[in-house]
Amino acid sequence: MRILFIADVVGTPGRKAVEERLPSLREELDVDFCVANGENVADGVGITPKLADRLLVAGVDAITLGNHVWRRIEIVPYLTGSDRVVRPANLGSAAPGKGLAIVAARDGTRVAVINVMGSLFIDVPVSLWEVVDGLVEEARRSTPFVFVDVHAEATSEKVALAQWLDGKATAVIGTHTHVQTNDARVLPGGTAALSDAGMTGPHESVIGVRSDLAIKRMRTGLPVRFETASGDVRIEGAIIDCDGDGHASACRTVRVSVG
Ligand SMILES: [Fe+2]
Repeated sequence: MRILFIADVVGTPGRKAVEERLPSLREELDVDFCVANGENVADGVGITPKLADRLLVAGVDAITLGNHVWRRIEIVPYLTGSDRVVRPANLGSAAPGKGLAIVAARDGTRVAVINVMGSLFIDVPVSLWEVVDGLVEEARRSTPFVFVDVHAEATSEKVALAQWLDGKATAVIGTHTHVQTNDARVLPGGTAALSDAGMTGPHESVIGVRSDLAIKRMRTGLPVRFETASGDVRIEGAIIDCDGDGHASACRTVRVSVG
């Protein structure tokens, strides 16, 4: 089983890169299952039903989200009814949607996809540590293939979660910070880990935002309306190979220039 994770898809450039390149990339890389983080696909913050559908039609099997989950409120009914789009599991108990989905891969094998958020600089109502064990146990009752997107600022939280889940999850892959880290590895128990898978979108930017606008806000403290940048568009992410019992055998980063 080969899983392709597509890191945080940012705005129109990121979405177009997925639509134009993912079908051929899936073939070239012989991908069985594809997960994408889509929390930035609607002009950099949030996701709409239409954009979620476009990613799914392009060849994404499951979508994870993050702290911007509710920026586009029209996603609420969609998330409630979706069995392929998950939001962070550690929201309040009344939040719509769910944090675990079980989705069929190319050959019908079931893959569990879990989304959790870290605590540093992110306002989470519930610690991920309160929910993650139950989610992984629930997932493993259905399948040994368990993919976890840990959406967090701190590498320490992501490294800790990967170690905690070593042997229980197939992969624990970090998102949110948009800068790909150089620590793709398989832990001793067979869990693939990467602190940040990077960003699918314009890299001539400040993590997807037009650099002049991001710098102006930082330098002046004035409110500045952000716009998605356009240059150096890449698909970034990770490839995870795993055997039949859900243990990872290899984990490497992906970086593909588009256009
Ligand atoms: Fe985020």
